Formats: sequence, structure tokens, C-alpha cells
Amino acid sequence: MSLLLALLLLMCNQASSSPSIPITGDGKVLRSLAGQLPSQQTNIFASWNDSSSHCRWPGVFCGGHKHPDRVIGLELDSLGLTGSIPPSTANLTFLRYLNFADNRLHGDIPVGLCCLARLRHLNLSKNSLQGNIPTQIGNLKNLKSMVLSDNSLTGSIPSSVWNLSSLTVLSLSDNQLNSTLPMNIGFLLRNLQIILLNNNQFTGPIPSSLSNASRLEQVQLTKNEFTGRIPESLGSLSSLQCLHLGMNFLEAKNSNDWKFIDALANSTNLERLDISYNRLGGVLPSSVGNLSKEFQWLDLRYNQISGRIPEEIAGLGGLVGLFMQGNQFYGPIPNSLGMLHSLQGLVLEDNYLNGEIPASFANLTSLIRLFLGNNELNGSIPSILGQCQHLEFLSLEENKFTGRVPIEIFTITSLSVGLLLFGNSLTGPLPLDVGSLKALKTFDVSNNNLSGELPKTLGDCLSLEFLNLSGNSFHGSIPSTLEELKGIQNLDLSRNSFSGNIPKFLEELQYLYYLNLSFNSFSGEVPMNGVFANESGISLLGNNQLCGGNRVLKLPPCSHSKNKRLQVLIPTVVTAFICLVILVLCLLKLKKKIDKE
Ligand SMILES: *[C@@H]1O[C@H](CO)[C@@H](O)[C@H](O)[C@H]1NC(C)=O
Ligand SMILES: *[C@@H]1O[C@H](CO)[C@@H](O)[C@H](O)[C@H]1NC(C)=O
Ligand SMILES: *[C@@H]1O[C@H](CO)[C@@H](O)[C@H](O)[C@H]1NC(C)=O
Ligand SMILES: *[C@@H]1O[C@H](CO)[C@@H](O)[C@H](O)[C@H]1NC(C)=O
Ligand SMILES: *[C@@H]1O[C@H](CO)[C@@H](O)[C@H](O)[C@H]1NC(C)=O
Ligand SMILES: *[C@@H]1O[C@H](CO)[C@@H](O)[C@H](O)[C@H]1NC(C)=O
Ligand SMILES: *[C@@H]1O[C@H](CO)[C@@H](O)[C@H](O)[C@H]1NC(C)=O
Ligand SMILES: *[C@@H]1O[C@H](CO)[C@@H](O)[C@H](O)[C@H]1NC(C)=O
Ligand SMILES: *[C@@H]1O[C@H](CO)[C@@H](O)[C@H](O)[C@H]1NC(C)=O
Ligand SMILES: *[C@@H]1O[C@H](CO)[C@@H](O)[C@H](O)[C@H]1NC(C)=O
Ligand SMILES: *[C@@H]1O[C@H](CO)[C@@H](O)[C@H](O)[C@H]1NC(C)=O
Ligand SMILES: *[C@@H]1O[C@H](CO)[C@@H](O)[C@H](O)[C@H]1NC(C)=O
Repeated sequence: MSLLLALLLLMCNQASSSPSIPITGDGKVLRSLAGQLPSQQTNIFASWNDSSSHCRWPGVFCGGHKHPDRVIGLELDSLGLTGSIPPSTANLTFLRYLNFADNRLHGDIPVGLCCLARLRHLNLSKNSLQGNIPTQIGNLKNLKSMVLSDNSLTGSIPSSVWNLSSLTVLSLSDNQLNSTLPMNIGFLLRNLQIILLNNNQFTGPIPSSLSNASRLEQVQLTKNEFTGRIPESLGSLSSLQCLHLGMNFLEAKNSNDWKFIDALANSTNLERLDISYNRLGGVLPSSVGNLSKEFQWLDLRYNQISGRIPEEIAGLGGLVGLFMQGNQFYGPIPNSLGMLHSLQGLVLEDNYLNGEIPASFANLTSLIRLFLGNNELNGSIPSILGQCQHLEFLSLEENKFTGRVPIEIFTITSLSVGLLLFGNSLTGPLPLDVGSLKALKTFDVSNNNLSGELPKTLGDCLSLEFLNLSGNSFHGSIPSTLEELKGIQNLDLSRNSFSGNIPKFLEELQYLYYLNLSFNSFSGEVPMNGVFANESGISLLGNNQLCGGNRVLKLPPCSHSKNKRLQVLIPTVVTAFICLVILVLCLLKLKKKIDKE
């Protein structure tokens, strides 16, 4: 009996608490480490307890045949950890990969980490680490990837880093690092596949020896202070996929300086080239059309490139994005561009392009964004653009387009972000079809010579937030259907020949914060509330027959409002008089009665 009881007790005991496992060795280090890393989100460290071996704790990986209890991997990324990296991490001497990325760690990178001789992958990205990269990091001879991006590291890259010849990934982007790159970088880091240094303050030339790191796939140097020419040698990198050199001070003055484009034709895996926001002048060579068959993305914007757009560019059959805005390209848009069937974004604005939009654009049926503004394009807006049924943003502003806006434009129901046609010489009315643009947010046809009355269907453009019809020859009254534009924020009808009353519904459009009705022929009483109550949100200048409205507008009072007062006053007086007469009669009667009694 007592034996049975004892057995029961024992079973009970076992069920309630599992046997604890003594924490020793790396487990102890991990516990001390956890103690120094407060977590703001999930408390992962609660499960780092003696109910299981440290090798089974979340984020911890052990390994090795000879040392199964030694920690070889620590993955503590995206846990909201705060504090600084505990120096005791360096006691996990078998570590091969260490990931503290995407936390809120600050302070320096502890020098002790540099003794982890077996470390292959170090990822400390997306934290707030400060100070210099320790020189001793050069001791990590086995390091294959060093990812310190998105921190606040300062100073230069210690020269010992160039001795880490096993490195395949070097990512230091989004810090405040400066200094130049060694001219022989490609001999030193010959296994490099990915180098990301964007968004720092690196200076000096791009070393042409980069090409000796022959396995390079991604070179990302955007947003630094690199100077000089773009080295031709990069063209010998046969694995190169992305070359991002935008936002630097790189130069090109003559065709010699553009030879790198010819050379890159040999990089048969190249998909993206970004050389935007530099100081590249001269003429874009036609060899641009010989870039790889994989090529998808060409960004040349905001340089000083002149000359014509080479028609050979049509050789880039897989091109998805072409950005050439903010240069000095002149002459016509080559008809051959119509062969780029995969194009989704075509941006040629802010150049000196002239002539007409090529008919071949009918074939650009994948286009989502087409920006041709601020050029000298002429002729009419071609109706074939209506075949681009995926367009979300069409901007043709500040050109010399004439004629009517073809009805086909208003059948592009995908238009949602914007339709900008302002600053041309367009004529004719807005067609009824405008009402098909139900998703359109921004519609600007200001400064043209459009005429006629506004179609009632304009009220069907239910997503409109910004509507600018200023500077045309529209007439008639504001259609009552505009009451449906519940999301409108900004409405500019100024400098037209609109007439009639200002409809009262405008004061009820709750998001409308700017309304310009100036220089029209509106008349009658101005509403009081909503946008009309805010002096800085409304302009009514140059409408000489307006009256009333909110006091802040300082308009003359409406004469009919005096009449209104009279209309109220007369019946009141008459009623009061009749009441008085009745009262007097009653009193008289009462008096008679009293007199009788
Ligand atoms: C880490 O190692 C140092 C020296 O080897 C030792 O003094 C320290 O106690 C160790 N820390 C932990 C948490 O084990
Ligand atoms: C100990 O860790 C286990 C998971 O390993 C967890 O289920 C348990 O709740 C933890 N104990 C405490 C006291 O946090
Ligand atoms: C570094 O960690 C971040 C966050 O977990 C991750 O997104 C990134 O891919 C890692 N980088 C490398 C090279 O492993
Ligand atoms: C690099 O930055 C450090 C501070 O972060 C500064 O002291 C040093 O002058 C800078 N060097 C150059 C060449 O700009
Ligand atoms: C790089 O390595 C060489 C030879 O291994 C050594 O002589 C040199 O001092 C190292 N340079 C740095 C900066 O660590
Ligand atoms: C470096 O690459 C160039 C070609 O870009 C080649 O001519 C040269 O021999 C290479 N040098 C070494 C040391 O590999
Ligand atoms: C491209 O490669 C071919 C063959 O490897 C070579 O003859 C040619 O010079 C290279 N062109 C450039 C511009 O590097
Ligand atoms: C482009 O490549 C073709 C075929 O390889 C060649 O004939 C042509 O000269 C090249 N064009 C330029 C501008 O390099
Ligand atoms: C569109 O492409 C087709 C097939 O590639 C071609 O036959 C047609 O002429 C092109 N249309 C225009 C207007 O260029
Ligand atoms: C458009 O401009 C081109 C070149 O500037 C000119 O030759 C052509 O006559 C113009 N076309 C129209 C319709 O104005
Ligand atoms: C409407 O267009 C005119 C002319 O393009 C411009 O001056 C005005 O600022 C625009 N209105 C708004 C509200 O942006
Ligand atoms: C605008 O069109 C009207 C006729 O609709 C015309 O009288 C006027 O001259 C045109 N103005 C401009 C600037 O083209």
C-alpha cells in the first residue's frame, strides 16, 4: 500500500516538473548573454531554461561530430533586442555564423568578436551600431560574408578587411563610412560576389581592378562621392547582374569615356545598370543596344547626356524600365522604342525631344508609367495610346501637343495615379467618356485651350482628389454631379468663363481644402461653410457679381438678403397687429361683461 503511494507520488512529481538539465559550458555563456540583451518584443529567452539542453533553445545551433554541445550558430535576428552586443559572445569560440540583424542594438562592435576564428558569416545589419569597424576584424580569416549594413558606423574600412580573401559578400551600405577603396581591391578580394557600399561617403575613383574579382554579381556603389570615369574593365565580369553607380560624381566627357558601355556588352548576365545622378556628358553610344539579352533596367536620369536617343536601344528586348529624364536628349523619339514590348516604365521627361509620339507606341501594351513631360513634342496626342490598357500614370505635360484629346485616352480605365496634360495647346471639349476614369486621383489639363461645358459625367470620376482645369476656355455652370466627388481635396477652375451660382454642395465636400474659382463669371451668394470659411483655402478673385459668404471673404452683402429680412418682417408686423386688435377686442368684451355684472 505504502509502496503504491510512493510510486504514485513519484509519477506525480515527474509529471509536474521534468528533470532539469545542468547548464554548463556554452549554455552558461548563452544565459549570461541573454541577461544582457533585453528583448522588447517576444521574450525568446524565457525558453532558454533548464528544461532542455541549450542546443535545443530557439535561435541556437550546435554541431560538430567531436563537440556536439558547442554552439556553432546563433540566429537572434528581428527580436527587438536592445542594449549593446555582449562581449561574452566571444566566448562561443566554435561559432561559425552569428546573426544579430534587425534589432535595436547600439554601441560599438566588440573587439572580442574578432577572435572568433571559425566565424564564416557575420550579420549585424539593421541596428544602431556606432564607432569604427574594429581593425581586428581582419583576424576573421574564414569570413565569407560580412554584413554590417544599415547602422551608424563611421570612419574608414580598416585595411585589414582587404586581407579577408575568403569574403564573398561585403555589405557596408547605409552607414557613414568614408575613405577611398584600394586600387588593388580586386586582387585582394578575388572571391567577392556581392559588394554593397551604397549610401556612405566613399570618395576617389572606382578601382578598375574590381574586374579581377571575376565572380562579382552585384556591385552597388550608389549614393557616395566616387569620382572619375567608369572603368571599362567591368565589362569582363561575366557574372555581373547589377551595376549600380547612381548618385556619385562620375564623369564622361567624350566617346572614350563611354567605352564602358561597349565593354559591358560582354557581361552577358547584366540585368540592371544605374548611372543616374552623375556628371555624365557626351552622347550615349549606340552600343547600348548590345547589352545582355537579360537586360531589364537602364537608369540614366539626371546627367548631362546629349544627342539623340539611339534607335539601337530597341535591341534590349527584355527592357522593363527605361529612365532617361533630366538630360539633354534632342531629336525625335525613335520609332523603334515600340519594339520594347516588356516596358512597364518609360520616362523621357525633362529633355529637348521633338516631333510626334511614334505610332509604334501602340505596341507598348505593358506600360504602367509613361512620362514624356517637359519636352518639345508636337502633333496630336495619338489615339493609339488607348491600347496601353495597363497605364496607371500618363504624363504629357508642358509640350506642344495640339488638337483634341482623343476619346481613346479616356478608355484607359487603369489610369489611377495621374493624367497630366497641362501646358499644351489642346482644344475642344472634355468628352463624356471622361467618366470612365473611375480610379483616377489626379487630373490636370490646366493651361490649354479646352472649351465647352463640363460634362456631367465628370462626377463619375469618383476617386478624384486633385482636379485642375485652370487656364482654359470652359464655360457654363459647375455641374451638380460634382457633388459625387467626395474625396476631392484640390479643385482649381480658375481662369475660365464659368458662370452661374457657386453650388452649395461645395461647402459639404469634407476633404476639399483648396478651391480656386477666380477669374470666371460666377454670380450670386457665396456659401458660408467648409472650404469657404477658410480664407487661405479659397480664391474668388475676378468674379464681380459675388456677394455674401463668410465674413473673412469681405464680399459685399447680398441685396436679396435685405429683401429676405423684409419678407420676414412684414408678416411678423401684420400678425402682431392682428393679435393686438384681437386682444383689444377681447379686453373690451371683458370690460363690457364686468360692467354688466
Ligand atoms: C568569457 O571568457 C572570459 C575569459 O576567458 C571569462 O573571464 C568570462 O567569465 C567568460 N564569460 C562567460 C559568460 O562565460
Ligand atoms: C522553459 O522553456 C520551455 C520551452 O523550452 C517553455 O515551454 C517553458 O515555459 C519555459 N519555462 C519557463 C519557466 O519559462
Ligand atoms: C542578414 O539578416 C537580415 C535580417 O534577418 C536578412 O534579411 C539578410 O538576408 C541577412 N543577410 C545575409 C547576407 O545573410
Ligand atoms: C572620415 O570620417 C571621420 C569621422 O567619422 C572624420 O574624422 C574624417 O576626417 C573623415 N575622413 C575623410 C577623408 O573625410
Ligand atoms: C595582410 O596580410 C599580410 C600577409 O598575410 C600581412 O603581412 C599584412 O600585415 C596584412 N595586412 C593587414 C592590414 O592586416
Ligand atoms: C586583372 O584583370 C585584367 C582584365 O580585367 C587582366 O588583364 C589582368 O591580367 C588581371 N590581373 C590579375 C593579376 O589577375
Ligand atoms: C568582349 O569579349 C570578347 C571575347 O572575349 C573580346 O574579344 C572583346 O575585346 C571584349 N570586348 C570588350 C569591349 O571588352
Ligand atoms: C553590336 O553587336 C553587333 C553584333 O555583335 C555588332 O555587329 C555591332 O557592331 C555592335 N554594335 C555596336 C554599336 O557595338
Ligand atoms: C506592333 O508590332 C507588330 C508585331 O511586332 C508589328 O507587326 C506592328 O507593325 C507593330 N505596330 C506598330 C504600330 O509599330
Ligand atoms: C513638329 O515638330 C517638328 C520638328 O520640330 C516639325 O518638323 C513638324 O513640322 C512639327 N509638326 C507639327 C504638326 O507641328
Ligand atoms: C493649376 O494649374 C495652374 C497652371 O498650370 C497652376 O498655376 C495652379 O497652381 C494649379 N493649381 C493647383 C491647385 O495646383
Ligand atoms: C483658344 O480657342 C479660342 C476659340 O475656341 C480662340 O479664339 C483662341 O484664340 C484660342 N486661344 C489660344 C491661346 O490658342
